[in-house]
Amino acid sequence: MTRQQVNAAVAAVRGHHKGPFPEVAIILGSGLGQFGDDMEVETVIPYEEISGFPVSTVAGHAGRLLVGKLGPTPLVAMQGRMHLYEGYPAELLALPIRTLRELGVKILIITNAAGSLREDMGPASLMIIDDHINFSGQNPLTGENDDYFGPRFFDMTEAYDAELRGELAKSAEAVGVAIHRGVYIQAAGPNFETPAEVRAFAQWGADAVGMSTVPECLVARHCGLRVVGLSVITNLAAGLAGQELTHTETMEEADKASADLRRLLGAFIAGL
Ligand code: HPA
Repeated sequence: MTRQQVNAAVAAVRGHHKGPFPEVAIILGSGLGQFGDDMEVETVIPYEEISGFPVSTVAGHAGRLLVGKLGPTPLVAMQGRMHLYEGYPAELLALPIRTLRELGVKILIITNAAGSLREDMGPASLMIIDDHINFSGQNPLTGENDDYFGPRFFDMTEAYDAELRGELAKSAEAVGVAIHRGVYIQAAGPNFETPAEVRAFAQWGADAVGMSTVPECLVARHCGLRVVGLSVITNLAAGLAGQELTHTETMEEADKASADLRRLLGAFIAGL
């Protein structure tokens, strides 16, 4: 991921949106794209029009950047994201995050759809991500390091910002949305897990499993963004529910949680 590639993407965004750029960004996960309806959108930029941006191939991922406001807060939303399982080189997942950083973003809110590893955290629950486990086998920062973006070796002790997690929990309480907290583990996908994998992940201390988020968090922390993450639980993970998993079910349950999610994020983002 060269600086020239990032600069080209920045120039493309600037070509569409000339005004001040928001300091808060949100990545909308599978089935969470309707959140964009709550925004007062000033500029819509399809990923195809941003130089080098990988275009998501997954149903439920629109593939465009929305620049505008949510309530009083300037906000940029990535409506759709790329996943490692789509076959993009891992380093390409650095491009959107570094582009946002160069445009002035300071806080990154990452959302995803995830399977629960806990019986007490059922479908349509929301979980604040306290920490993660990278079990994807890949890292977007593999390869030559560009010190301009961040150091070769960097700390992940507080990958998810403690203050922002606290604020997110307070916002949940304020709007009366039940919230869980836990550890997210990223599997490579594209298959859902086997029951044996699910049992292993739970023993490692994970609470939810999904196929995204970790690469974005890594790139964001490397270049100094503050990160906060929220999982929408769409199903009990394989073997816990006694039924097979489908992407359609994932999308339907994400839909059910969407009212809570919108209320929670509305309150949280208004306070940033
Ligand atoms: N596993 C992995 N990713 C997911 C799941 C799951 O059970 N549900 C939604 N995304």
